[in-house]
Amino acid sequence: VNTKEIGIGLLGVGTVGGGVARVLLEKGEVLAGQTGCRLVLRKALVRDLGRARSVSLSPDLLTLKPEEVIERPDVDVVVELMGGEGLALKCMESALAHGKHLVTANKEVMAKHGPSLLALAQKNGVEVRYEGSVGGGIPLIAPFQRDLVANEISAIHSILNGTTNYILTRMADDGMDFSVALQQAQDRGYAEADPTYDIEGIDAKFKLSILASLAFRSWVNPKDVFSEGISRLEAKDFRYAREFGYAIKLLAIAKKSGDFVEARVHPVLIADDSLLAQVRGVFNAVQVEGDLVGRIILFGRGAGAQPTASAVMADIVAVSRNIMYRIKPAGLLPMVGKLKMKPMSEVESRYYLRLNVFDQPGVLAQIATVLGSNRISISQVIQKETDEALQSAEIVIMTHVAREEAMQRALVGLGSLGVVRKINNFVRVEM
Ligand SMILES: NC(=O)c1ccc[n+]([C@@H]2O[C@H](COP(=O)([O-])OP(=O)(O)OC[C@H]3O[C@@H](n4cnc5c(N)ncnc54)[C@H](OP(=O)(O)O)[C@@H]3O)[C@@H](O)[C@H]2O)c1
Repeated sequence: VNTKEIGIGLLGVGTVGGGVARVLLEKGEVLAGQTGCRLVLRKALVRDLGRARSVSLSPDLLTLKPEEVIERPDVDVVVELMGGEGLALKCMESALAHGKHLVTANKEVMAKHGPSLLALAQKNGVEVRYEGSVGGGIPLIAPFQRDLVANEISAIHSILNGTTNYILTRMADDGMDFSVALQQAQDRGYAEADPTYDIEGIDAKFKLSILASLAFRSWVNPKDVFSEGISRLEAKDFRYAREFGYAIKLLAIAKKSGDFVEARVHPVLIADDSLLAQVRGVFNAVQVEGDLVGRIILFGRGAGAQPTASAVMADIVAVSRNIMYRIKPAGLLPMVGKLKMKPMSEVESRYYLRLNVFDQPGVLAQIATVLGSNRISISQVIQKETDEALQSAEIVIMTHVAREEAMQRALVGLGSLGVVRKINNFVRVEM
């Protein structure tokens, strides 16, 4: 019989915190078997004591004061699940300073302040674990920290935001416009009332920063991760992309070559028959290239109460086992490398361009001249809808590999051509 108790303090009992509290209460026996001790919820921080919750907790477990969770002598592990940056970071620092182990699912704080929190933990002889911060229930942090350590990782291509992947799936499959697909995502509870973080690629940027830091063992500051959202895409782009054999996804991409790392989040055309193109709806997937393992792909539910609780509980159990067996916290994240970030202007890609032009002879020659003067060559062109009344036509161009800065200059040049009515879209092509 396990008599030893490990005290858990929760900061936040919302979607994920509620899921974690539920597992702690309902799976006590199983968890005791896994850890060799009993995991006991001692106290939980909330903002509103009267709010209805997905889990029923005795009122004396709840508090409005973070210190009543963090500073309780019988709390061994503080589990931060409130989100946001300000108060969450303060609580996390306070927990570590009080010698408590920390488990969190907070991608924003881990992306921006991971190295300083890990250093603070090391100083205080405790652990920080954050499996739930990226990819919900998909094991991602542990594989990078453990299973892939013998690899030199060269690239990550990932779908890290379920909301945007859902929207893009609807646009591709049902020909929906962006705003209609977004509304549907909100109606189904996949998108927040303010969806900015998701649709502008900010959420994916934080997650990519965490994964890239782990993969390349050098901190990738989210400030240095280029990000662009999906709101410029139109249903038409999906149709045209398909004609060229591509799907459109919001990918979070990180690559290392020599001492340089590039990290970027933006919509891309990827081959229709690639594995990532098959990831539909709210699912997430992370494809990793390692020198020993080759290509692997991790796939699953990237959010939600239960999948994320699965990841958070794994961390709680790992920390509790280490406490039980007096295993000293391992330096789980040597982000000590000093790799340099490649600026976006130096990134190379192929491009898809959709232009609205005057339907007259010589147009294509003028466009090719602007591209050519920027050392961009065309691989394919198709002419789409023509509008006789307006004497306009839509053309779609696929280019060969070019530098981003050259493409940006070419876009300015194309925009000032008299024969180009409008640059409707441009999307980078990957793989
Ligand atoms: N939702 C997901 O699927 C998911 C997946 C992966 C990672 N995450 C991450 O997990 C974390 C939690 O997300 P969530 O979706 O569970 O959030 P949520 O549903 O909004 O829950 C937040 C919880 O924190 C409490 N809280 C917030 N601010 C507080 C404050 N100033 N003082 C006291 N309590 C406060 C709230 O109290 P009240 O209940 O009283 O309002 C609530 O219980 C975030 O870092 C998020 O990025 C979430």
